[in-house]
Amino acid sequence: MAGQVADPYRIWLSEVMLQQTTVAAVKAYFARFTTLWPTVQALAAAEDGAVMAEWAGLGYYARARNLLACARAVVSQNGGVFPADLAALRALPGVGPYTAAAIASIAFDLPEVVVDGNVERVMARVFAIETPLPLAKPLLVQAAAALTPKLRAGDYAQAVMDLGATICTPRQPACAICPWSAGCQARAQGIAAELPRKLPKAIKPTRQGQVWLGRRADGAILLERRADKGLLGGTLGFPGTGWDGSNADAPAQGAWQVVGMVRHTFTHFHLDLTVLVADLQQDTRPQRGTFYGSNAVRAGDLPTLMRKAHDLAWPSPIGT
Ligand code: ADE
Repeated sequence: MAGQVADPYRIWLSEVMLQQTTVAAVKAYFARFTTLWPTVQALAAAEDGAVMAEWAGLGYYARARNLLACARAVVSQNGGVFPADLAALRALPGVGPYTAAAIASIAFDLPEVVVDGNVERVMARVFAIETPLPLAKPLLVQAAAALTPKLRAGDYAQAVMDLGATICTPRQPACAICPWSAGCQARAQGIAAELPRKLPKAIKPTRQGQVWLGRRADGAILLERRADKGLLGGTLGFPGTGWDGSNADAPAQGAWQVVGMVRHTFTHFHLDLTVLVADLQQDTRPQRGTFYGSNAVRAGDLPTLMRKAHDLAWPSPIGT
């Protein structure tokens, strides 16, 4: 905002969130995080489980783990101050070229080149770059660098991202109201909507697994926290098999019944999870997992995949 000093912590947090989803979807998460943890020190001191729970629903949990690792690195290695330098930012956990350039330019007014999917699309169109993605990446970065101003590079980058999000959209760009239409080569050639071209995507494989949803008569459900490493690392969910078609023993003794299947799509594969349900005895001693009373879990504590399994097994909302 003009005349206001940007808080690098808030810029960093919002940019990490915005890599997951749209501005509209991020708003509530951002408000909640900054209320709970108004500073990088506060976030660094947060409990892992609390941060994972607030992140639930944003997806791609490695980012949430990196978020905490980054906050803690900034506090322990840099006195709680984000470095005003591209290379030093890049060295922080989870901070890639995009996030580093966004923080450097938006928070520190450095003339760094910010390139996300929106910027790539706008550049492909302004310069009518017909090389397909991902081959076109270096050309698009070059184009973005050529246009990035030395002054207010962060404002410029945000303007291009907003243009891409609202006017220069993937399908049916609104060229008639675009402030850049006169200088747009793709518009001149009538190919704006076709750009950027893309090489055909690899087909996602489908993987298989099972989950066991056990519930006692008092409403407590059997949950297990996943190991920190790997997909959905550190999140709470129902005990299950691996996702490679392998078998495992049920986590507790019970009359397990298949109730159906849920499908979830990750970045590199689809997952079909067979859902088994059982009413468990009150004195059940599980081999895996822990019973959580119905007031000890909220919907937000479980990642979407596990919520889908829950809702298939038990139509009443989590925590009731
Ligand atoms: N998308 C991601 N970060 C953004 C920003 N800072 N401004 C506009 N759109 C964005």
